Amino acid sequence: MTNQTKIWNVSTTINEETIQEAAALLRDQQVVAFPTETVYGLAADATHEAAVQRIFEAKGRPADNPLIVHVGNREQVKQLVTEIPEVAHRLMDEFWPGPLTLILPSNHTASQNVTAGLDTVAVRMPSHPVALQILQAAGLPLAAPSANRSGRPSPTEADHVKQDLDGRIAGIVDGGPTGVGVESTVLDCTSEIPVILRPGGVTKEDLERILPEVMVDPALADQKEQPKSPGMKYTHYAPESPLWLIEGDDDFFQQQLLHIKEENPRTAVIASNELAEKLDHEVITACGSRENLPEIAVQLYRALRQYKKADIDVILCESFEEKGVGAAIMNRLQKAATQKITQY
Ligand code: TXA
Ligand code: MG
Repeated sequence: MTNQTKIWNVSTTINEETIQEAAALLRDQQVVAFPTETVYGLAADATHEAAVQRIFEAKGRPADNPLIVHVGNREQVKQLVTEIPEVAHRLMDEFWPGPLTLILPSNHTASQNVTAGLDTVAVRMPSHPVALQILQAAGLPLAAPSANRSGRPSPTEADHVKQDLDGRIAGIVDGGPTGVGVESTVLDCTSEIPVILRPGGVTKEDLERILPEVMVDPALADQKEQPKSPGMKYTHYAPESPLWLIEGDDDFFQQQLLHIKEENPRTAVIASNELAEKLDHEVITACGSRENLPEIAVQLYRALRQYKKADIDVILCESFEEKGVGAAIMNRLQKAATQKITQY
């Protein structure tokens, strides 16, 4: 695949020609990247096996990892599933369009490489205007994983997509940086009590306002459990240099940094503003206040992408509280980390 990748910039105004051009490529079974409110997605016609195959090829994604189908309206959901449980209706009313993906029983309209042969299908309606307009113009349900090379941090800017996929896909619609910064929450609605398979933009606390009970896939807490969401078992979100996750208080972080710097002079730090202020170190990315976890989520993937192997030997990263969107932040950091250093 050595195509020319077309890039459109709609970050200040969305023009109709771009939307139509992107939609036409998608109807023509090509793959196109565009912004969603969470991260950039790499889209193709979810009902067309050969189109979906292009996503897997461009990303180098394992075939047993199913994709999320994006819809522009609720009518499209009905075309993909055997039934919509009552609980799913309530969740759509409350959280769509937005960063919540629902696992529903598939009627196999989505191509089998979208669902990886499962009897369920993941659906979500994104709220980003560019994503919604392209979905509506294409008139197709679109399979769209994050638009990164498999294993790399997800893209929150068009430039990240370009770094990973230039020449491998038909086009990139640049809508500027994304809003939420981490992916959607994946919620299994096929069991009696809904189960969070992947924490994301809609928090457990948000869901508990609407649902009497929500469970969390035990595999999220315990590495030994087999995850129900196939994608959760792979190495993910990894920066170029090894990432060491530090769990402890600020004094512990400071001691570890001093110690690790002796052997690794080219050490970088990713931290909250509060910790960054306390550290006597040059190469630091401060990602926002630890009191404002949504801000940390917005900055996280950019921070992970920024350090290159040629310049940095190891990245030390602070651990954040697992409340609200902090659960998603820590889930991604645990997966990205090659090592954990704990005080307790
Ligand atoms: O925010 C998002 O969800 C982004 C944007 C582009 O919409 N998309 C995204 O897609 O994160 P992806 O492919 O990177 O992650 C999809 C996740 C994987 O963990 C996959 O295993 C899970 O959803 N998944 C998809 N279909 C599933 C199914 N039928 N059952 C269980 N898990 C499923
Ligand atoms: Mg992904």
